[in-house]
Amino acid sequence: MDKQEKELLALAPQEEPARQYYFIEAIRRKLLEERPAGAPGPSCCVVTFGCQMNARDSEKILGILQKAGFQETQQEQQADLVLFNTCTVRENANEHLYGRLGRLKRSKKEHPERIIAICGCMMQEADEVEKVQQKYPYVDLIFGTHNLYRFAELLFELLIRREEETARRARERRVVEVLPAADRIVEELPNSRKYPFKQGVNISFGCNNFCTYCIVPYVRGRERSRRSDDILAEIRQLASEGVVEVMLLGQNVNSYGNDNPEEISFPELLRRVCRIDGIRRVRFMTSHPKDLSDELIQVMAEEPKICRHLHLPMQSGSTEILKAMNRRYTKEGYLSLVEKIRSRIPDMSLTTDIIVGFPGETEEDFQDTLDVVRKARFDSAFTFIYSKRTGTPAAAMENQVPEDVVKDRFDRLLQTVEGISKEESGRDTGKTLEVLVEGPDEGREGWLTGRLSNNILVHFPGDQALIGKLAMVKLLSSKGFYYLGELE
Ligand code: SAH
Ligand code: SF4
Ligand code: F3S
Repeated sequence: MDKQEKELLALAPQEEPARQYYFIEAIRRKLLEERPAGAPGPSCCVVTFGCQMNARDSEKILGILQKAGFQETQQEQQADLVLFNTCTVRENANEHLYGRLGRLKRSKKEHPERIIAICGCMMQEADEVEKVQQKYPYVDLIFGTHNLYRFAELLFELLIRREEETARRARERRVVEVLPAADRIVEELPNSRKYPFKQGVNISFGCNNFCTYCIVPYVRGRERSRRSDDILAEIRQLASEGVVEVMLLGQNVNSYGNDNPEEISFPELLRRVCRIDGIRRVRFMTSHPKDLSDELIQVMAEEPKICRHLHLPMQSGSTEILKAMNRRYTKEGYLSLVEKIRSRIPDMSLTTDIIVGFPGETEEDFQDTLDVVRKARFDSAFTFIYSKRTGTPAAAMENQVPEDVVKDRFDRLLQTVEGISKEESGRDTGKTLEVLVEGPDEGREGWLTGRLSNNILVHFPGDQALIGKLAMVKLLSSKGFYYLGELE
């Protein structure tokens, strides 16, 4: 580190996010010095795995990189900086990362100046960090979910280490920082918005539910709700920038505020979001059935801005298995909740998540799952084969279900789920409904793609000037997962 850089570090403000903005500027200057005047900045490729939380985090990461002078690219094999934002919810998510990392080995060898970084849920697991360090020595930067806000500072540190230790091996220059728990919520980081008209907004981080199969509470930490004033201020700002649809994000939005006695409830938060001028549609993810209150159903029924789509993961239809999963509801409880929602809000589209092959699941348990699927008539369901996650209580359960039995149940479940989806799809054919126009329809010249309130896609001919706007579209025919329509 030269004298000037030492001075720079000593001058960094202690408070956040000012400290990170300081490092963003330091990176920007450094990159500028290294490039001929007027040349474009280095390229970066952010690859995101997993859920909406990760997608939201990636927008923050990309925002930081762009502010520091990087230019976004999708070319993973060529980018000057590649960052993987990882997921570890199921084993195949992990395999996915290692496949992608392996494919970068050659190009990194040819261009050692490229930066390879990994962050996200998988990096909150000590074993995985160890594996990356041992088997993928060409990874330059590792950080976790709790210190994502420190990305700029960590990247700056890496840039400096690379300069001063060029003679040493890559693994000794590597920057690794993973925190065991979140020390704070840092707001107001730069943001790179994927769509100008819709945006995800975090309302809480982490999870307290400890479903016995799930790793999320271990890698995302305890539930922390953001202050409602901060959430509302962010949404007002987004509305002033032209955003018409927000998606409120949390592992369990229904328990929003439970960690802070002074905070408002989730239904009240929804009411206040709906009052913001300019916001026309409000979505949220995910709802845990055990915390879905009558007040929430009431608000959904009353507020036309709340979209007609509820994702309500059931996981299993067997009361026994639900108990072993620590879901804290029964088969009957889930069904009566569905009944209540359907009777109050008949046009609500319901989707769910289902796991097959949880330890101890018998054919009878599985039949209960099929029974709920048939009765609840989900518009669609994400079906997963149970994946053993080290460190979770279910991983230590003795009665794991043999692979061939699970596979057979999975196929039968998929058949049932798809059959019902097919029957349910197209039920709005002939109606004229409001669509948020999201972009040009890939593949059909002069056509657009939009989304109904119930989250189903509609393709129709129209002018690109409509993108980002709400339009009334007549649904002419159903193609299963989408409609073809025409503007009214
Ligand atoms: N917080 C959300 C779910 C987040 S994980 C909720 O509670 O609904 C998304 C989905 O992944 C879960 O709903 C579950 O169906 C699935 N999942 C989580 N852990 C899993 C595991 N170990 N094996 C298979 N599927 C799993
Ligand atoms: Fe995982 Fe359960 Fe929390 Fe969802 S509610 S993130 S499934 S522990
Ligand atoms: Fe995966 Fe982390 Fe989301 S483990 S599902 S990316 S919270």
